[in-house]
Amino acid sequence: TSVQRRALIASLIRDIPDFPQQGVGFKDITPLLGDAAGFRATIDELVATAPAGIDVVVGMEARGFIVGAPVAIALGAGFVPVRKPGKLPAETYEVSYDLEYGSETLTIHTDAIKPGSRVLVVDDVLATGGTLAATAGLIQRLGAELVHVSVLMELAFLQPRQLLARAGLGETAITA
Ligand code: PRP
Repeated sequence: TSVQRRALIASLIRDIPDFPQQGVGFKDITPLLGDAAGFRATIDELVATAPAGIDVVVGMEARGFIVGAPVAIALGAGFVPVRKPGKLPAETYEVSYDLEYGSETLTIHTDAIKPGSRVLVVDDVLATGGTLAATAGLIQRLGAELVHVSVLMELAFLQPRQLLARAGLGETAITA
């Protein structure tokens, strides 16, 4: 069941204090990915919470690739990577934003998603919400429709929903 899957997933995510810098608690999903039943439960849970009719799954570098690609296969959707700068070879749109630690720029190919496509965004952690807000901006720029967001964990103490509401994503369905 979903309850069992969620318990297994939560049990296999470990907290690493002071990484990548002092005072930041890092949610490490490598024990989850490395566990056959855990990885299966992760993908099954993301698929179970996805709405019908998804054309494209978008995943953010790097952990969003690992969980997003199997979800795309399971849904019969395509997979589109949102990448850090200098990685995508063709013409890109890019957007910069502040992260929990430091700042970041994300890029997407300008022809990656057909206008009007129904998009599911998948990532491991929703922290400040900056990565998601930036990704949503890129999807919107391509004329596609962000219909749902699924993450394994939401760090509610960082109040990502406040940032997302300010970014115009207050009505977007998010499963955490
Ligand atoms: C992490 C995580 C999310 C993002 C969430 O990625 O995988 O993509 O941060 O943070 P935010 O909500 O504050 O934006 P990171 O930038 O560490 O990249 P990585 O997956 O390549 O390690």
